[in-house]
Amino acid sequence: MKLKNISRLLFYAFVIMCIAPSCVKEGPAGLTGDTGPAGKDGTNGVDANQTCKMCHNPTKVDLIAVQYEFSKHSYGEAAFEEAGNTGCAPCHSQEGFKYVVANKVPATFTLNTTTNRYANDYASIASAAYGEYGCSTCHNSIHATYGSSDLPSLTTVAPVPMNMWGGKKIMDLKADGGKSNLCIKCHQPRPQTNLQTGNVQDYDGIAANPTVLAYDANDNGSKTNIVRPSYRMHVHYGAIGAIYAGMGGVEFAGSLPYTSSKHTTEASCIDCHMGAKGGLSDLVGRSGGHTFFAKGNLTTCNATGCHSTAITSASTTLWLNPRAEIKTLLTTLATKLTVGGVEILNRNPNTNEALGGVNLWASLTANKYDGYLNVYDPINNPNFAANNPSGTFQNPAPSSSWTAEQKALNLTFPKLSLTNAQYGAILNFQLCLREYSLGIHNFNYTKALLTNSIAKL
Ligand code: HEC
Ligand code: HEC
Ligand code: HEC
Ligand code: HEC
Ligand code: HEC
Repeated sequence: MKLKNISRLLFYAFVIMCIAPSCVKEGPAGLTGDTGPAGKDGTNGVDANQTCKMCHNPTKVDLIAVQYEFSKHSYGEAAFEEAGNTGCAPCHSQEGFKYVVANKVPATFTLNTTTNRYANDYASIASAAYGEYGCSTCHNSIHATYGSSDLPSLTTVAPVPMNMWGGKKIMDLKADGGKSNLCIKCHQPRPQTNLQTGNVQDYDGIAANPTVLAYDANDNGSKTNIVRPSYRMHVHYGAIGAIYAGMGGVEFAGSLPYTSSKHTTEASCIDCHMGAKGGLSDLVGRSGGHTFFAKGNLTTCNATGCHSTAITSASTTLWLNPRAEIKTLLTTLATKLTVGGVEILNRNPNTNEALGGVNLWASLTANKYDGYLNVYDPINNPNFAANNPSGTFQNPAPSSSWTAEQKALNLTFPKLSLTNAQYGAILNFQLCLREYSLGIHNFNYTKALLTNSIAKL
């Protein structure tokens, strides 16, 4: 605990002990007449220290707070960067998250009759668009009663309407009392919106019409274009919720059915990500407990009674083989996503946080794809030339902030049209790359998305 917090804690304890009845000994003297008889001693109040100590002790809050420093929820910088943005706040700030939960803000899109375009309703308000994540992001009852019901009670475990489909589909991970729903309320994809209407993209329509053009580069103003490719045309980073629930991809018909692995119904995020949470010595490296990391810790696979034998990073059937299979499928799909020898997917070898623009998924494919598109963007992707040896694509919507040279250079690059098959395959690639685990989260669903996408190209 920070020094500031300890001194504040002592202050509160002091205030509470002084107002407790045991402090009251005698009534004050009256103005006139004899002093009255001494009042009866009140019954002893509960020592404030005792209820505080239930949580504030070296093995509970104090220890968990230390584990939490290892969590990206704590050290990540997005809460600072996105402060004040009401659209980002539901997932990137403590107060924004608590606001959308408390006010049951719907995941819908609504038609604005002035602009005649749809807008996303899933947002916080400006006065609640801030706050680094802390304990009360997930445990919003802390200090509500100072009693044992305050912890580990969770902010929400309700089923999660998916914002990417305007709330029309709902994820509900039932294992462990629905506790995973807390995680996937934030760890869900962001919507792809339709270029013409601003409404959510119709994934079923894309999957059913693979040869139709999603974007025609020779008719940029076409009223049938549903998207314009850009460097950041993506589903954001919360891929895991959708992959885990087995319901976030563009489900092209194909040889494999869209089923989920047993994890979806039998295991919770907590089972694998918060293992052995007794103390710091129980953490495996920097994983487990309130670090929320699974990477580097496979002790949970059989600790929870799920797999009968221990799984290690050398196990073939349940670790090396399935991951190698997904890795190969990602690579095959990337190879098919080329036009005229130029790769559509962007490469980014940077794993050095200090340089910024880190590719969190660099180790998952040999070519170090990051899920973005190899479309010219000198502002957001200044290293495009060094990273993409096969060249790059023309940006159909140059920014007014580009220099004249940049605008001229853009016109020298080849144009990029996209069929629905290519568009859907790109979205599926992003989901399957950014779920991080190379299929461990939901092997069947990941394999089906990649295999059927490859067959469509
Ligand atoms: C149910 C568990 C629980 C109980 C009971 C409890 N606390 Fe806390 N308290 C917490 C948690 C969790 C935090 C956040 C710790 C952190 O952020 O590292 C906290 C934080 C604090 C802080 C720092 C607040 C801040 O703004 O940073 C103070 C001071 C504090 N508690 C005082 C008390 C006092 C005094 C009592 C008893 C009257 C008490 N707490 C009882 C769980 C509890
Ligand atoms: C309020 C939204 C929210 C909730 C609830 C939430 N997360 Fe997160 N989580 C995030 C965000 C945002 C990040 C990235 C933070 C950053 O980069 O600043 C993150 C990061 C992580 C990371 C690190 C990922 C990396 O890039 O290394 C893990 C692991 C994780 N969360 C797991 C969980 C689990 C498990 C739960 C449920 C117990 C959970 N999260 C609940 C929003 C949330
Ligand atoms: C539906 C929830 C959600 C919304 C809304 C959302 N994000 Fe995120 N964002 C996440 C999650 C979850 C992660 C972390 C995923 C992980 O690391 O596993 C994340 C990660 C990030 C990161 C860190 C990426 C990295 O490489 O480390 C940035 C930057 C970011 N978001 C920006 C934004 C901005 C800007 C907005 C608003 C325009 C926004 N996000 C809206 C859920 C959301
Ligand atoms: C990202 C969400 C999240 C955040 C942030 C978070 N917790 Fe938790 N916490 C959980 C979940 C989920 C559980 C339930 C674990 C289980 O059921 O095994 C839990 C369980 C607990 C428990 C009871 C189990 C145990 O390990 O003793 C305590 C106490 C606790 N948290 C304290 C804290 C404190 C203190 C902080 C801040 C330093 C904090 N939590 C931050 C999600 C969170
Ligand atoms: C069956 C175990 C299992 C379950 C259940 C599980 N994960 Fe994971 N997760 C993993 C493994 C293993 C990795 C790391 C893979 C690696 O080592 O590269 C991982 C990686 C991640 C990462 C990247 C950072 C990290 O911890 O390495 C995030 C974020 C994440 N999972 C979120 C979630 C969320 C949210 C849920 C619940 C919807 C969930 N996971 C459920 C096993 C699991």
